[in-house]
Amino acid sequence: MGDRLKGKVAIVSGGATGMGGAASSLFAAEGAKVAIVDVNGAAAEARAAAIRAAGGTALALTADVSDAAEVAAAVAAAEAAHGPATVLFNHAGTIVIKPFLETTEEEWDRLHDVNVKSMFLMTKAVLPGMIAAGGGSIVCTSSISAVAATPMEVLYGTTKGACHMFARAIAVEFRDRGIRCNAVCPGFVRTPHGLREVAELQRLGVDVSEAALAAQQGRIAEPEEVARAALFLASDEASFISGTHLFVDNTFTAV
Ligand SMILES: NC(=O)c1ccc[n+]([C@@H]2O[C@H](COP(=O)([O-])OP(=O)(O)OC[C@H]3O[C@@H](n4cnc5c(N)ncnc54)[C@H](O)[C@@H]3O)[C@@H](O)[C@H]2O)c1
Repeated sequence: MGDRLKGKVAIVSGGATGMGGAASSLFAAEGAKVAIVDVNGAAAEARAAAIRAAGGTALALTADVSDAAEVAAAVAAAEAAHGPATVLFNHAGTIVIKPFLETTEEEWDRLHDVNVKSMFLMTKAVLPGMIAAGGGSIVCTSSISAVAATPMEVLYGTTKGACHMFARAIAVEFRDRGIRCNAVCPGFVRTPHGLREVAELQRLGVDVSEAALAAQQGRIAEPEEVARAALFLASDEASFISGTHLFVDNTFTAV
């Protein structure tokens, strides 16, 4: 247990499993009251229960972050339980892996809703309370895919490019109201999302074998390694860091 988020009230979207789950646990272990907003209610509840069992404070809220009414209800419930959020981790997201020419309009719209509109809805719902509370830190999950293209991921990379710019633009518009906003940009990470991505790319003939991953980023990342980067950006240790993109990719995008 540490105190790097002591006194903070955090909302973590997609906070049930993977990197979001690791962040929910880490933020709570560092003293934050955590509200997990996730479409997988059972996994969110299990994560919150584990946090409480470890002595932390956590609440599970079931919501699809692409749905305005569900987001509004979840943020209102989080505020009612813990007070206004001073940390928001916009992490929820998913992936569609397909040849571009087979990608449907429905898939295009749905992934933009889940990966991008979700950040608009969550941030818009949280910001008034955060500003009234004197400010806070927003961390958005972007990706190496915001700047490095992978075949079969035109749609996914486009959504992550939008997340990349969303973080920067929020930072600029709200700087003078005490809000910092940054993005974490992970490489390939050992989560349900990351492992499915590797398997589906391999099936479609894209080489993301262990050897290829080793060449690009040494090895697959662990979710906790990304959660620690999000913790830093969320914490007051990053007090003069806003509008930046923190790549957690062990050189994937450096070469
Ligand atoms: N795993 C990787 O290799 C990798 C790399 C870069 C970026 N990312 C990003 O990480 C996020 C995926 O998370 P993860 O890799 O930790 O995997 P994950 O699949 O374990 O976690 C995603 C979480 O988001 C939740 N979620 C999905 N859709 C939702 C919705 N509509 N509403 C609410 N919650 C929803 C899931 O239930 C899950 O708990 C995405 O934003 C993705 O772009 C992943």
